[in-house]
Amino acid sequence: MSESRTISAAGGLRGEITVPGDKSISHRSIMLGSLAKGTTLVHGFLHGEDNHATLNAFRSMGIEIEELAGGDLKIEGKGLHGLSEPGDVIDCGNSGTTIRLMTGLLAGQNFFSVLTGDRYLRRRPMKRVIGPLATMGAKIWGRGGGDLAPLAICGTKLQSTEYDSPIASAQVKSAMILAGLYADGVTTVREPHLSRDHSERMLRYFGADVRPFEGGVSVAGQPQLEGREVFVPGDISSAAFFMVAALIVPGSELLIRNVGLNPTRSGIIDILQEMGGSLELVNPRELSGEPVADVLVRSSQLRGIEIGGSVVPRAIDEFPVVSVAASFAEGTTTIRDARELRVKETDRIAAMTSELSALGAKVEAREDGMVIEGIEGLRGGGVTSHGDHRIAMSMAVAALRAGGEVTIEDTGCTATSFPNFWQLLSEIR
Ligand code: S3P
Repeated sequence: MSESRTISAAGGLRGEITVPGDKSISHRSIMLGSLAKGTTLVHGFLHGEDNHATLNAFRSMGIEIEELAGGDLKIEGKGLHGLSEPGDVIDCGNSGTTIRLMTGLLAGQNFFSVLTGDRYLRRRPMKRVIGPLATMGAKIWGRGGGDLAPLAICGTKLQSTEYDSPIASAQVKSAMILAGLYADGVTTVREPHLSRDHSERMLRYFGADVRPFEGGVSVAGQPQLEGREVFVPGDISSAAFFMVAALIVPGSELLIRNVGLNPTRSGIIDILQEMGGSLELVNPRELSGEPVADVLVRSSQLRGIEIGGSVVPRAIDEFPVVSVAASFAEGTTTIRDARELRVKETDRIAAMTSELSALGAKVEAREDGMVIEGIEGLRGGGVTSHGDHRIAMSMAVAALRAGGEVTIEDTGCTATSFPNFWQLLSEIR
């Protein structure tokens, strides 16, 4: 267990912050930059552990990636067929996006590779990508009857396919799209609700033929991708912790600059506004095909709401911190249709229910969500992150309005997505 933090209540969060780059977009910038011909420059890349797993993976397959002063990246892409066989097992660390997207991408190579990860990642389901990839001819083996990493991938010639995904998952969709780049013809993926579409946007930005339609997307195989300049916006999933913090701590006024507001990611804004939160979008603009704005947040009395349906994939990583907001809202908040939370970095329904309850919150776990009764205030105490970065940061936000100090165990995991979280938090209180 690494590191613990003790957080005390805050009296008004004020100022301006910029959160680090978007994790999903940062992963994709390395992948597509490597598969494109020529140089790709990435500005605002997130230097977190998850993205470094992707970066190291592509270096191990012969791609030159230089870190420039200020953290920008220069990637010398070698084209769609320019990767070479890695000399060792690829370690994806804690990163579900790395392992699932790379499984799709590696399935169509002309070499053998093995993907693994940390003890959390090795417990997460991989059949959701391996199953549909097999219909394209992919040859992939794993533990647990082919569901668990380490995964062994024997690259082969793939056939294009049409896949109806039972879950709204950008990792499943992107794995299929990346495999589809290596097939002849058009690969189509449908999903029950639209999940984040960064792969589609960035592929189009790099020159691929990507056609979204109601309920799905089609991608033509064997594209010629050209190196581009990518500007990564701030991660709305990281900004979300500060949005909720500023809403629940009385006397707060916080400007969060340069937040990515892709409509497939901005469910948290809709949820918090419906709860009565004051969030203003200032200076909207576009960066490398992604919408961006500054978000001005003022403390607000929140109220409980019902959450379910298509907003769920649009806010899938934000439910831990939504449950914190709900703990301080007037009335009851019900979260439904969110069964996917059970297979994230940890079971986030179980983890948030137990940790918020430890501070006196009234939370009930449901199979596909949570019911949270807002109360006046939480008490201090000891909690754990369960090794999950978003649980650690959500509990830090809850602690800002607790009646006593809160000690959070196992906080080193915040480095996976938000290395300067604690620093930023100390700057605005
Ligand atoms: C991600 C997709 C989501 C999300 C994850 C990042 C991506 O996972 O939870 O943090 O970058 O594609 P699912 O595809 O499992 O919903």
